Amino acid sequence: MRLTLNTGYTIAAEIYSGPSVFEELTGWLDKAFTGTESVFILTDTHTRSLCLPLLLSAVPFLQKAEVLEVPAGEKSKSIETAGQLWNALLAKGASRRSLLINLGGGVVTDLGGFVASTFKRGISFIHIPTSLLGMVDAAIGGKTGINSGKVKNQVGTFHSAEAIFIYPGFLKTLDNYELVNGFAEVIKTALVGDLPLWEKLVHLNLQDLVQGGPYPGLDEIIEASVAIKCRIVEQDFRERNLREILNFGHTIGHAFESLSYQKKGKPLSHGHAVALGMICESYLSEMKTGFAAKDRDLLTSMIFPFYEYYPVLREDVGFIMDTMIHDKKRRDSCYRFTLLRGPGNAIPGITCNFSEIEDSLSFYQNIKRD
Ligand SMILES: NC(=O)c1ccc[n+]([C@@H]2O[C@H](COP(=O)([O-])OP(=O)(O)OC[C@H]3O[C@@H](n4cnc5c(N)ncnc54)[C@H](O)[C@@H]3O)[C@@H](O)[C@H]2O)c1
Repeated sequence: MRLTLNTGYTIAAEIYSGPSVFEELTGWLDKAFTGTESVFILTDTHTRSLCLPLLLSAVPFLQKAEVLEVPAGEKSKSIETAGQLWNALLAKGASRRSLLINLGGGVVTDLGGFVASTFKRGISFIHIPTSLLGMVDAAIGGKTGINSGKVKNQVGTFHSAEAIFIYPGFLKTLDNYELVNGFAEVIKTALVGDLPLWEKLVHLNLQDLVQGGPYPGLDEIIEASVAIKCRIVEQDFRERNLREILNFGHTIGHAFESLSYQKKGKPLSHGHAVALGMICESYLSEMKTGFAAKDRDLLTSMIFPFYEYYPVLREDVGFIMDTMIHDKKRRDSCYRFTLLRGPGNAIPGITCNFSEIEDSLSFYQNIKRD
């Protein structure tokens, strides 16, 4: 597949995906570089050992690149890590004409995009996403960012990568938990923007995805998700209205994610939190925008065999509401949500009050699971 994402802001991103992306990358580098500019590759601890060797053997030109590494995980999306990377780029002589290649999941593409878009007022960068979530969502659309304290994505830029190269073969080393994590964004993309993709997902056996490593039809699903996201982002790069539909499940999902970081135990991953957020927000959709109960049940039955239930207690409700205040989506005493009329039909900017949100949390708390 080859797409061009025209945003009207920054540059248009060229997006390549499929088994031959490394040839496309070689061609792209040939055109973009005369050989004198320095090239940097940002990895995390896992993608350095599991993905970098494959990239370097497929694109020998990159063997001369300087490799930067951050610890794997959400904690690297911090101002401290960004500062270390700016300093490393300076120390290694990066200039305005250098290129940063972000090789990793959403943490690396968000962080690397942020560092590159701010270093010397912006240097070129490209993304090579290696997680499913990175491929279908985080690397697409030009949002970069880091977290501020415990609140996610509070600092960042809208700045598109010059190109994105999606090689689904990287998913072979991604564990099943992370595959399922990324699949939540596929489900969301279908629900907000594409009835045919939703219908395809409903008939898939996600068990095969979880048990058997990469699912045979996954490449096409990735391409469909990317195309839908591009269609939405092109119309509203800076998220003034339409792009907000991509936040379905994220308002409550982000609050669950932040809650899990406050508590002891394994924190919720982004996709798992979004999956649980979609359950609450589909309940709000049923109350406010006529989403059918049967579609809500279908969504719930897709989510629960694969995504762990995260306990939300009565005393957590205050924290969840407070977190949503920071989530850029509150107006006056109401919270703004993207809600669904039906699968593939989303409406941004629907306001819900405190008690409606509480009802959706009670629905979640009382849900019956097999
Ligand atoms: N910018 C956006 O539009 C956008 C959209 C959605 C999510 N995000 C952000 O993305 C982040 C989550 O992304 P993620 O789920 O990819 O997390 P991640 O980057 O932490 O990757 C998850 C784990 O998988 C490992 N990994 C990645 N690729 C691998 C591979 N091929 N083989 C083995 N291990 C691999 C990573 O090292 C990490 O341990 C969050 O910070 C979220 O806020 C951004």
